[in-house]
Amino acid sequence: MSLVDRYGRRVEYVRLSVTDRCDFRCVYCMAEDMTFVPRRDVLTLEELLAVGRAFVAQGVRKIRLTGGEPLVRRNILWLVEQLAAVPGLEQLVMTTNGSHLADMARPLKQAGLARLNISLDTLDPARFRELTRTGNLADVLAGIDAAQAAGFAGTKLNAVILRGRNDDEIEALVDFARVRGLDITFIEEMPLGQIDEHDRAIAFMPSEEVRARVHARWPLAAVPDDQSAAGGPSRYWRMAGSPTRVGFISPHSHNFCHLCNRVRVTAEGRLLLCLGNEHSLDLRQVLRERPGDDQALAQAIVSAMDLKPERHHFNLQEAPQIVRFMNMTGG
Ligand code: 5AD
Ligand code: SF4
Repeated sequence: MSLVDRYGRRVEYVRLSVTDRCDFRCVYCMAEDMTFVPRRDVLTLEELLAVGRAFVAQGVRKIRLTGGEPLVRRNILWLVEQLAAVPGLEQLVMTTNGSHLADMARPLKQAGLARLNISLDTLDPARFRELTRTGNLADVLAGIDAAQAAGFAGTKLNAVILRGRNDDEIEALVDFARVRGLDITFIEEMPLGQIDEHDRAIAFMPSEEVRARVHARWPLAAVPDDQSAAGGPSRYWRMAGSPTRVGFISPHSHNFCHLCNRVRVTAEGRLLLCLGNEHSLDLRQVLRERPGDDQALAQAIVSAMDLKPERHHFNLQEAPQIVRFMNMTGG
């Protein structure tokens, strides 16, 4: 079984948003005043498991649990345990803001989670509060320590760099990753959802500029494509004498759509075929109209592949064409 779209791309990776809620309100991700989806509209844990199983039955090998913040979803450990045990699933991983990892890292590891991506945009507590609006840097640093103590390997930090806000910390963030033996990926901000907190065009920091800054301090050697996360949007570089990989996700300056191997499922069960387009199929409707009907779910997933668009077009000069915020989509 395999999922192939109209452009011959094989979909082997699904990002499942388990909640649109989050304990942070990052300025690039959310508006200050957010309305969340009514709980009945969010997929139940059982529905999420059914979706995960259906994708694996169609050849998907990697699932990432995202949010919002996946660790604010009640009983998330149950879902991790169940999904980790699905035969054929090779990698169950999670993207988290790290705020709950101090308590959760060990149980997550025990439940079978393979790897973590942790968001970290600054090492300054006051600035951390400003960028996340509600977060405590100390919690996240304790979470990173706990992840390492629990034995998680291959942990990656994600940093969104905004010009004039945290671009002076690029080197410090890389150094933090180096010292701890973590990977780090720098992400260009994407125009998802309408925000007023800053002008995305002004804050835009091209990956190339970030990379030049890192390179000036630690000369970078490109990791050959086939050794980078296969089919992923990240391009990786290495520093001499360190296992740390420095990655760049550049949705504006480097189009990676031709390599796209992934789809997303929103917290409401909308199967999104592309982060930068609205093409989608409502899996929740299938789940709730035909409960327990694996065939119907499989058919819906297979048929959705024909909806996958060729590429995204982001434009910072115009009002965002994608009205959904990143917390709906699973970053
Ligand atoms: N552009 C780029 N990255 C974003 N994230 C959230 N919103 C955006 C956006 N608009 C990132 C977070 C986190 C990951 C889940 O997605 O920083 O690292
Ligand atoms: Fe929460 Fe992550 Fe969005 Fe920040 S970027 S508000 S941590 S979902």
